[in-house]
Amino acid sequence: MQKKRIAILTGGGDAPGLNAVIYSFVRACLNTMDCELIGYRFGYRGLYKNDYIPLDRHTTSGILHKGGTILYNSNKDNLFNYTVEENGVKMQKDVSDIAVENMKKEGVDVLVVLGGDGTLTSARDFARKGVKVIGVPKTIDNDLASTEVTFGFDTAVNIVTENLGRLHTTAESHHRVMVVEVMGRSAGWIALHAGIAGSADVILIPEIPYNIDGIVAKINERKAHGKQFTIICVTEGAVEKGGSASIGKIVEDSPDAVRFGGVAAKIAHQLESRIDNEVRHCTLGHIQRGGDTSPADRILSARYGVKAAELIKEEKFGNMVCLKNGEMNYVSLEDVVGGAKVTGETAKGGDKMVDPDGEMVRVAKMMGISFADA
Ligand code: F6P
Repeated sequence: MQKKRIAILTGGGDAPGLNAVIYSFVRACLNTMDCELIGYRFGYRGLYKNDYIPLDRHTTSGILHKGGTILYNSNKDNLFNYTVEENGVKMQKDVSDIAVENMKKEGVDVLVVLGGDGTLTSARDFARKGVKVIGVPKTIDNDLASTEVTFGFDTAVNIVTENLGRLHTTAESHHRVMVVEVMGRSAGWIALHAGIAGSADVILIPEIPYNIDGIVAKINERKAHGKQFTIICVTEGAVEKGGSASIGKIVEDSPDAVRFGGVAAKIAHQLESRIDNEVRHCTLGHIQRGGDTSPADRILSARYGVKAAELIKEEKFGNMVCLKNGEMNYVSLEDVVGGAKVTGETAKGGDKMVDPDGEMVRVAKMMGISFADA
């Protein structure tokens, strides 16, 4: 039988664990199949420009623990709606057939795509064009309904937890209120988990609109118990009751154009006139995605990578690897994208939001953490 040629790419934003998936996937393929591997660079752009590197034990050596991706990322290059310049005019074009041709020319039999909603939507569309595709879900936000946990989430929670600890000591020294903005877009998983683990006093998430009076009440309650400082952990996409999320910037040519930002500064400003503590705010930003991948994410990524190799061996194309009931499984790419916002895992995809009446919120509330929603 002819040697299989397998390609892999990493689309969307980076997430800790991408390299660990590449590492485990390459080894699992080489150990179980007669194959050679290539990695397209900068996500789908590499597929369009035929820009790739060979992947083997040597080129993937020593990357298991490292955040980022040796294949680089792009969250702008949707080949089904790609920005091209013709006669000095910029326009959007479907260039996906060029990518398919490139794969044919290079003899690529299978394409493995690591990414979030946008990247997986294109993966589904390539599958519809007859490409043998396997998807692997990725996002630090943990907001994909078709899998229980995404890699990168645990690392982000660890980083936020550590930083909440650091902010405790400085806040306590100055009797300050500290408002800490964390990632997660419209899903509050990072703030909720890290807020519990890092002893935040107030957690604000998009799924539970807050009111400023609720935050002030918690600060005053703590003062009544002799605690002169308060730590508030807020998701970037959190909303005040009756208000809307703070938009940081619009990235025009990104499929998900809105970047949130500024909610911590807004809350700090609102609090300043209502309490006598000094208030400071800080945004943890991309620190949450950088550095080394946590051991739990390395293990999860290894499982995702190996399962992707197994799906190729079993010729189960058009599917995405997922975690179901704690075990590696797979689900059709047709089902994983474009679903409704839901509060639990579902085989039908969509965005997985925090359930305001679910266990984790109840645990936090029973511990005395406020969501400022009274
Ligand atoms: O979806 C992952 C994520 O890190 C979000 O938490 C955040 O809002 C966004 O990406 C930031 O995007 P960018 O890297 O383009 O600034």
